[in-house]
Amino acid sequence: MQKIFLRIVAVLIVGLALGAVALVSLFPLQRPAADISVAMTPENIERGRYLAINVFQCVDCHSERDWTLYGGPPLAPVGAGRSCMTQATQTAGVNSGQESFPGKLCIRNITPDNLTGIGQWTDGEIIRAVREGVDHNGQGLFPIMPYFIYRHVSDEDMEAVVAYLRSVEPVVSDFPERQIDFPFNLMVKMWPEPLDGPVFAPDPSDRIAYGEYLATVARCEFCHTPKDPSSMEGFEGRRFAGGMPFFLNGRVMYPMNLTPHNSGLGAWSKEQFINLFKRRSQPVSVPKNANTVMNWNAFSGMTEEDLGALYDFFMTLPPVPFEKEPI
Ligand code: HEC
Ligand code: HEC
Repeated sequence: MQKIFLRIVAVLIVGLALGAVALVSLFPLQRPAADISVAMTPENIERGRYLAINVFQCVDCHSERDWTLYGGPPLAPVGAGRSCMTQATQTAGVNSGQESFPGKLCIRNITPDNLTGIGQWTDGEIIRAVREGVDHNGQGLFPIMPYFIYRHVSDEDMEAVVAYLRSVEPVVSDFPERQIDFPFNLMVKMWPEPLDGPVFAPDPSDRIAYGEYLATVARCEFCHTPKDPSSMEGFEGRRFAGGMPFFLNGRVMYPMNLTPHNSGLGAWSKEQFINLFKRRSQPVSVPKNANTVMNWNAFSGMTEEDLGALYDFFMTLPPVPFEKEPI
């Protein structure tokens, strides 16, 4: 009897040890960074600037923000990183809706400084970090960095972003190494997922497919689709229906319903939709507790064609009534 018991314990211990070895050596899943050199043409840099600032919000997240202005525009030097999140930080500035962090996490310098930024990273390493969530040392990134969204960014758009990042002035701006508390330090190894082939965007002449691409990679879907908090999966049938609470400096706000229901974009013309964004290109002063997490400063710089494609796509969604999710 005792022998069987010992044998079971031994099997369990060996199982746990093998599990730990697997976690350390097999995860995060990753493939080698692509061996490429992005084209530093003026067109590529300009396209990348537009995408990084106005569409993907790289610059919003990787800079300090001015929360005295509506939408919290990024403060210079842009891309140089921002103060770290800890157990004690409030949402201010972290537009993922994350209130605090289990440990300490800094949104680092993505200017091309050799020591404190990404100057030494290869083009392929930057692309892999952004879309597949693995840094240049093969370490998994915490998914506040939205690589699970950017995996849908096309190879062409991703290369343009890298050309832009390489073209800006390097800024010396260093941050402490991250600390992640248990069990998130193990979970961060499980989240990254390699891509297994090239990624293409729909042709911009296909307005609806291209609008859907933009609604994904500009994170409209991420914020405007209510999610089951236990799985972080969007609720069935509520895609783009809004209503998931966000918090900023004590204010609770609910993303708008972007489906063509009366409680959403139903009564809006395309012109009204585009004009709302254009009106917000000049940020106005607001009290801190009246500010918003929606990145108006970034999105107001989107082209009318791109905003129009978003609208055309939203109009094809099934109309769903707006509902506030419980806090
Ligand atoms: C919602 C906020 C957010 C957005 C938007 C965002 N990032 Fe990040 N990024 C982060 C966080 C948080 C980390 C740190 C993750 C970690 O260390 O585990 C990070 C890490 C990185 C890293 C690794 C830096 C290092 O030194 O390890 C790179 C490179 C990067 N981001 C580039 C980008 C680019 C390019 C974009 C736009 C396509 C972008 N990020 C958009 C939050 C964001
Ligand atoms: C970081 C989360 C976030 C992202 C990303 C985001 N939104 Fe929002 N959005 C919100 C929140 C929260 C509100 C409600 C704002 C408020 O009450 O201040 C909102 C409001 C809106 C409104 C209503 C504005 C008004 O004043 O009536 C529209 C339209 C909208 N979002 C469209 C979009 C589109 C299109 C995208 C993608 C290009 C997008 N949002 C991306 C969070 C987000």
